[in-house]
Amino acid sequence: MAKRLLSPDMKKVIVTGGAGFIGSHTVVELAGAGYEPVIVDDLRNSEERVLDGIAAILGRRPSFHRIDCNDAEALNALLARETPHGAIHFAADKAVGESVEDPAKYFRNNIGTLAVLLGSMREHGAHHLVFSSSCTVYGEPATLPVTEDAPDQNATSPYGYTKVACERLVRDQCIAVPELKAVLLRYFNPIGAHPSGLIGELPRGVPNNLVPYVTQTAAGLRGKLRINGSDYETPDGTCIRDYIHVVDLAKAHVRALQWMEQRPAPLCEVFNLGTGRGNSVLEVVKTFARVNDVEVPYEIGPRRAGDVVSVYADTTKSRDVLGWKAERNLADALRDAWRWQQRLAD
Ligand code: NAD
Ligand code: WQD
Repeated sequence: MAKRLLSPDMKKVIVTGGAGFIGSHTVVELAGAGYEPVIVDDLRNSEERVLDGIAAILGRRPSFHRIDCNDAEALNALLARETPHGAIHFAADKAVGESVEDPAKYFRNNIGTLAVLLGSMREHGAHHLVFSSSCTVYGEPATLPVTEDAPDQNATSPYGYTKVACERLVRDQCIAVPELKAVLLRYFNPIGAHPSGLIGELPRGVPNNLVPYVTQTAAGLRGKLRINGSDYETPDGTCIRDYIHVVDLAKAHVRALQWMEQRPAPLCEVFNLGTGRGNSVLEVVKTFARVNDVEVPYEIGPRRAGDVVSVYADTTKSRDVLGWKAERNLADALRDAWRWQQRLAD
């Protein structure tokens, strides 16, 4: 990417969770589009070396503040100093299983940090918000592909419920603060890594998600992938998801900011971010093996409790209203995921 110098009139955007998987890729795209990202992350689920990767791509180190977003005083002091244009709020805990074990942790961090950020944004006149939501709010959809007006499923995991609650909080805040503009982005299954191989996902411990488990198995770090059930009512019996390349997802955040800037407040709009295609677990495994010419040993195990059978996005609204669509396919994402995994092993 061409090196872009900082200029005093660049719009500053606070990126909470900007050292994380999706946040780090978004920081790169924001800087590439002429914004000045200001990363706020306490590194509870990320590592400072991510900043080296971002710096290698951008040709300069992004601004980084190690702050817990629950710390209202620290966040307020930062927003007072930086007077940002807006914020993208990625910071959250995201392990569905852990949220069942410790719901209070998830309510506190996921809803609490949003409340702190919204208060601080109001106080300091930052009136553009992009919020990381999830297709988990749909639960098991009644019809596919799922559109944004499908009903929320309040009874999903505590993690899922925090996303439903946060969406509600943003909507209520937009009513209370007429200058506020907000976009709620419902991600489907983000995978892949930056094509440079310089940034990607850094799962801690045994990965919960499919693609990091596949890449670690192919790399010999795990013995065998266990496919969670092959007796579902799908063409090959395994669950179906909408896997979206993280760079496409990152670009959608830039688009969301630009889109909001062209519209009057108050504004609060929700968009699906997926490819619109569903792929089964077996398709992912076989595509990975084929495009990377590497073996992925696997076995069929029992179903995983709480798994949705099939979910993929209706992308009509994000295409027609936001003017965004995914440009990369499953094979691209799986090639980039493997490049990143091999880089991690260096
Ligand atoms: P991630 O864990 O890689 O990134 C989140 C970052 O937030 C981490 O760097 C973590 O250290 C930081 N963080 C968490 N709590 C914090 C706090 N209180 N203060 C400061 N920093 C804090 O996760 P990700 O996959 O990049 O997800 C980003 C967002 O997208 C999350 O809100 C997640 O719920 C949402 N989301 C993720 C997925 C997915 O499958 N990855 C799907 C849908 C939605
Ligand atoms: C995909 C498929 C697994 C691992 C989760 C969250 C969701 C959202 C995205 C944040 C499923 C199967 C997995 C393995 C397997 N996150 N699988 N063997 O469950 O769609 O969604 O991440 O908002 O809220 O629930 O993604 O990657 O865990 O699983 O067979 O070792 O792969 O059972 O069918 P999921 P995933």
